[in-house]
Amino acid sequence: MASFLSMPSHLSQFLTKHLISPTYLGTRTYKSWQANMAPKSNWGAFWYNALTLQIYDAWVLGFNMSFVWRCTTETVLLPFFRENFSRRHLDIGVATGFFPATALAQQPPATLPAQEITLFDLNEIALRSAKARINADNQKTPVSVTTVHADALAGVPPELEGMRFDSVSLFNVLHCIPAHQERKNRVFELAADVLSDDGVVFGCSVLGIKHHAWWNPLGWMTMAFFNLVGSAFGNWEDEPAVFEQGLRREFEDVKTWIVGSVFLFRARKPKRIDR
Ligand SMILES: C[S@@+](CC[C@H](N)C(=O)[O-])C[C@H]1O[C@@H](n2cnc3c(N)ncnc32)[C@H](O)[C@@H]1O
Repeated sequence: MASFLSMPSHLSQFLTKHLISPTYLGTRTYKSWQANMAPKSNWGAFWYNALTLQIYDAWVLGFNMSFVWRCTTETVLLPFFRENFSRRHLDIGVATGFFPATALAQQPPATLPAQEITLFDLNEIALRSAKARINADNQKTPVSVTTVHADALAGVPPELEGMRFDSVSLFNVLHCIPAHQERKNRVFELAADVLSDDGVVFGCSVLGIKHHAWWNPLGWMTMAFFNLVGSAFGNWEDEPAVFEQGLRREFEDVKTWIVGSVFLFRARKPKRIDR
């Protein structure tokens, strides 16, 4: 029930309009279904619910990161997160909250007297679940957790106007957004607008099909399934160069690299562009 209520409005309108129509089976093709659905940026947030979040860490961060994308969470992504995580942190695209919850739990409590974490996501179930997990995993550390329910492509939401963070993470969110890469790069505008002068934006995203070695059938199957069937991914054509351009437009200091099929980036010194 909760997942039906959290369905994107275009999907519920589509189901209401077409499932009761006698022409549905004969006239609707997969392509037109996709044309109706794909452009909406909220598809990337649709699939996270009580059930999928239960298996998310083991499946996505455990199995897929190690064996499909070859960029292991324990040895690459978590150390990368911990290196850049600060006391005033914004996490965009949270799912279960694994990265901030684990990074915090692994710090000695005394070094973090006043940790502030803002969780930003288009999916309220993910926000509630990540907040509960951070609080549960860090009972000995004073942590203030705030949630912001908004679309990362829509600019700075009113709740974050005028706020500045010392670190902003964008882990595994760009590949979930079903939009052209240039449009996805708007997420970097949002990150630049809320980053402090000395702050850091860092993240990772699974690249498009050109970056999947032909010998990895799991990568092909996962890409095809999530891009073409479920629209949980929107990264079929994602290229490192386009993300890099987006980052360089917003930040003076940009570093990017690739591990397996995953693009990693770290950017500092926001250019403070007037929008
Ligand atoms: C694959 S999960 C990544 C979660 C976490 N950062 C990690 O690496 O495990 C993607 C998250 O991004 C969120 N998301 C997808 N599209 C979004 C959008 N347009 N704006 C904000 N959040 C979005 C989803 O709801 C989901 O929680």
